[in-house]
Amino acid sequence: MSFLPKPHGGKLVDAFHPDYNLTNITQEIKLDAIALSDLELIGIGLFSPLTGFLGKEDYESVVESMRLADNTVWSIPVTLPVSYETAEQLSVGGEYKLTFEGEAYGTIRVSEWYEPDLEKEALNVYKTTELAHPGVKRLFERGPVYVAGEVVLIKKSEKGIFGDVWFEPKETRALFEEKGWKTIVGFQTRNPIHRAHEYIQKAALETVDGLFVNPLVGETKSDDIPAEVRLKSYRVLLDNYYPKERVQLGVYPAAMRYAGPREAIFHAIARKNFGCTHFIVGRDHAGVGNYYGTYDAQHIFSEFTEEELGIKPLFFEHSFYCIKCEGMASDKTCPHGKEDRVNLSGTKVREMLRSGVLPPAAFSRKEVVEVLIEGMREKTTV
Ligand code: ADX
Repeated sequence: MSFLPKPHGGKLVDAFHPDYNLTNITQEIKLDAIALSDLELIGIGLFSPLTGFLGKEDYESVVESMRLADNTVWSIPVTLPVSYETAEQLSVGGEYKLTFEGEAYGTIRVSEWYEPDLEKEALNVYKTTELAHPGVKRLFERGPVYVAGEVVLIKKSEKGIFGDVWFEPKETRALFEEKGWKTIVGFQTRNPIHRAHEYIQKAALETVDGLFVNPLVGETKSDDIPAEVRLKSYRVLLDNYYPKERVQLGVYPAAMRYAGPREAIFHAIARKNFGCTHFIVGRDHAGVGNYYGTYDAQHIFSEFTEEELGIKPLFFEHSFYCIKCEGMASDKTCPHGKEDRVNLSGTKVREMLRSGVLPPAAFSRKEVVEVLIEGMREKTTV
């Protein structure tokens, strides 16, 4: 008997068919890097129950009410944008190769295409139409027509340096079972792990069997620290400060949407598909700039029942290093004032590194800082 949660929608989607016959499929739709990643994540079941790119009815329902047309919770539209010229060539029922840089990675059987109301998508999903928001900017750049249909994944992307930490949901589920973990907390990050992250991870780990450190390595905005550098920093941190038998590192290969509250729900569902029973949501989860309130990404969970989500969010207050307490704390645990507190954030660490200032021990472990400095140096000398 398994203690792991059922995948979202009931079963893991498996649309990977490497021997799929392409000989009669002559036309293609070109994918961008995000659509390529979405195709693969649909194919391996990380986005279960999705079996393809969203049709109009599902899309409108997701934008409107964070649910697929059949009422399953789903907060972020997963769509395949194309130009008008491409859309004009399509026929309903036709099958097309899905290509990236000239190579076929899958196919789609086109069920329909439609013009989305991008303003509405921006407002509902991202809470703004400002192009200064990286998710909104990308939304408006990506294309005016969405193509819908079931996909087949025929080729997986090269994993490169992520090879040993790139797991499919069926693999993480098997790993967790093998370790005998009954409760697993998933942790999302797009930053190097700083002391506040470590604090909330370890606080969560006190109450569950295992921690799944699951950094996002898909597309991010250009000033985020590159995934290769971050990966090195995760490895060195875990090697030095985490108990091996209670922690598993694995990448989350999806694109970052920066959609704050809605993305927190999306992140939680993907982690449930990986087999996690719990998911950490701290302050301003998946936020960017000042578009979302500090705890909006926590409040949004109250719009759904625990049963329909199927994964338990673990909420954490904004945490900081307190000089008087001589340790990490939050408003819940520390009585001291602002002047005694060192506030941490990925943005601050990035700013310090860029201006050549060493983040202090209250911010980041020294091993992590060394890796980041080395990584930034390599980046600027290339
Ligand atoms: S995110 O875009 O991936 O959410 P980040 O890597 O900064 O950004 O955060 C990872 C997780 O840690 C999120 O759940 C976020 O809410 C939480 N978090 C980050 N910094 C803090 C902090 N100082 N206090 C509490 N939670 C935090």
